[in-house]
Amino acid sequence: MNSPKRIYLDFNATAPVAPPVMEILKQEGWAYGNPSSVHALGKKARRLVNEVREFLFDCFGLSEEKFNLFFHSGATEGINTIIKGLALQCLKEQKSFSFYCLESDHSCVNNQQEFIELLGFSFKALPVSRNGELDVEAFEKIISTDSSDQKVLNWTWVNNETGVVNSLKQVCEIKKRFDLFVHVDGVQAPGKIEEWRVLAPELDSYTFSGHKFGALKGSGFSFIKENILLLPLLNGGGQQLGIRSGTENTWGIFSIKEALNYLILNYNFSEQSKAKSILENKIIELIGNRGEIIGIANPSRNGNTIDLLLYGIKAHTSAMVFDMDGIDLSNGSACSSGAVIASRVLLSMGYDEDQAKSALRISLSPYFSNVEEQGLWPNLKKVLERLLS
Ligand SMILES: Cc1ncc(COP(=O)(O)O)c(C=O)c1O
Repeated sequence: MNSPKRIYLDFNATAPVAPPVMEILKQEGWAYGNPSSVHALGKKARRLVNEVREFLFDCFGLSEEKFNLFFHSGATEGINTIIKGLALQCLKEQKSFSFYCLESDHSCVNNQQEFIELLGFSFKALPVSRNGELDVEAFEKIISTDSSDQKVLNWTWVNNETGVVNSLKQVCEIKKRFDLFVHVDGVQAPGKIEEWRVLAPELDSYTFSGHKFGALKGSGFSFIKENILLLPLLNGGGQQLGIRSGTENTWGIFSIKEALNYLILNYNFSEQSKAKSILENKIIELIGNRGEIIGIANPSRNGNTIDLLLYGIKAHTSAMVFDMDGIDLSNGSACSSGAVIASRVLLSMGYDEDQAKSALRISLSPYFSNVEEQGLWPNLKKVLERLLS
């Protein structure tokens, strides 16, 4: 029996596999060799991996002379490899280390605290404003008194819950004034902002997750400046310059290229953001003073995310109602066990516990261009009216 068609509005959590990736999955016996093997199948797999490497340097405009690229299982692994690797390298060289991030960063960044402090180093999560922005002056005051040998800042390009965009230009300015290593969490950029391919070569590293833009789950990649030493997290056969040992995931890696190519050909930011604004205005008109859209006053938001706070209605309940009506969206305040916890992102922006338990995240497809498509608005409206009645 066919299940009724669902409306998927959870693209910041993950994206469906892109059509050209589906096509390679259908090919029998496709490049299953180990890229490190010396025989023909191994060499074929190596060629494919190298093809993707070249493609990625080209796609993001970075130079192979200045950056190393390594593949991994996704941003959680990539970010852990870089942050922990830098900290451990400092420990090895008996240097001091301090780490900065925003309180609103993803938990794979914020949860580095225990490890970093265990090594005897400093960890600081910086507060953000009601609009999700860093107080740069306050940060500069802190950083200017920090005498650590290695200072690392994680910069989340696009926030996964609110869609707030932290510009690379801004962090380049910060880097210019202070001697900082900057890692950019670029996970939520592809298919969500116009300039997703425009990386700043002066920043030190970037991480992306394949499944967020239509590649296979368990695939991701990071760029890191070629002269940076990291103590590897995974010791093994020394693949990928020893940064990330283990047999490369050829299918996952190749799917990254296919999915990004598809995005390059089909993503239209201005159509997406125009349609998002229409949807947002309809929502605002409907909810009136019974809720708000988080970060709406911030002119720097992405093209696909609407973080909707419905006053007094726990997101746990509202997300369930949407689910029963065939709409998949995200409840920013649920933890993996399903318990209702307040959204750390909203708390960091100064919302109270109750409010931080009441936000729903609508995240739209890169190809979203019409609010009536698939009956999206009529269905969304119906559920919102029911919740607010
Ligand atoms: C901004 C951001 N960083 C990092 C991650 C972690 O990515 P993954 O779960 O693919 O490892 C996510 C996932 O939602 C994210 O949105």
